[in-house]
Amino acid sequence: MQIVGLNTVVYGVDDFDVARRYWTDFGLQLVMDAPDQVIFCTPEGSQVHMRHLADPMLAPAPVAGPTVRQVVWGVQDQAALDDIAAELGQDASTRIDDAGRVHATDPAGHAIAFEVSGVEPLMQPPTVFNTPGHAMRINAAAQIYPRAYPSHMSHVVFAVQNLQETVAFYEKRLGFRVTDSYTGSGVFLRPAGSADHHNLFLLQRGDAVGFHHLAFDVRDIHEVFGGGLFMTSRGWQTHIGPGRHPVSSAYFWYFKNPCGGAAEYDFDADICDDRWVARQFVPSAEAFAEWAFPDGVQRYQGMQTGKA
Ligand SMILES: [Fe+2]
Repeated sequence: MQIVGLNTVVYGVDDFDVARRYWTDFGLQLVMDAPDQVIFCTPEGSQVHMRHLADPMLAPAPVAGPTVRQVVWGVQDQAALDDIAAELGQDASTRIDDAGRVHATDPAGHAIAFEVSGVEPLMQPPTVFNTPGHAMRINAAAQIYPRAYPSHMSHVVFAVQNLQETVAFYEKRLGFRVTDSYTGSGVFLRPAGSADHHNLFLLQRGDAVGFHHLAFDVRDIHEVFGGGLFMTSRGWQTHIGPGRHPVSSAYFWYFKNPCGGAAEYDFDADICDDRWVARQFVPSAEAFAEWAFPDGVQRYQGMQTGKA
């Protein structure tokens, strides 16, 4: 039952024009622009789909308004897909569509689906950094990115009211593994075929439910800044960032998304194999972000000009 990562995230949106502009500015490539569906992709082949809120093709979501309506996981081959169909086939909500995708609903009420992965991991030349005693970039300036082009859809985050039950569903029935946890309030999960620190983060906080954010890896810290500054220049609002997570080690910059929740630029997250030892953290603001600008570039510009 080898699930390898995120294939597609499907949104229900109320304004295609705004959604198209957002994802274009974010750096994804428009590959379909039809009256009923807009599709963007990353260079590795993961996709963002958008349909109108009232489209009957959309699965239900726990919250109203623009939000994620389905997460499609990629599996390594048809045998893995057959295993998932057999495992989930006992659930009333499970069905197989004409294309062979397995559709189901997790215990938190989020629609999920499974298909043979169409994602091809991108091999890009590594960025070289100068560190004390290890000068790797000599007589050359570091790259400045005028904007970002994310390559990898890395993780999706949902708030749930039944954290333990939902985690158990992904672990026991779909073979996900726990990478790290916030005691009692959040669990980072990765499927068996993924080395990403997490492809799914489930959190339980107050009465919150539903989609929180979708993250994409960029090439280096310079591209985090380039993408964030470009999004800001285009009028999109920072949710939080730039900053750095102590759990996962990633640098980040989140932007509020008119399609629902936020979208995150992410760089240098931990990569884990079977030797990774899961850790427990006490939830706190410091555990979430080692440092971060709460209001993004506006505050940064204020610092530049000497304003408060
Ligand atoms: Fe994230």
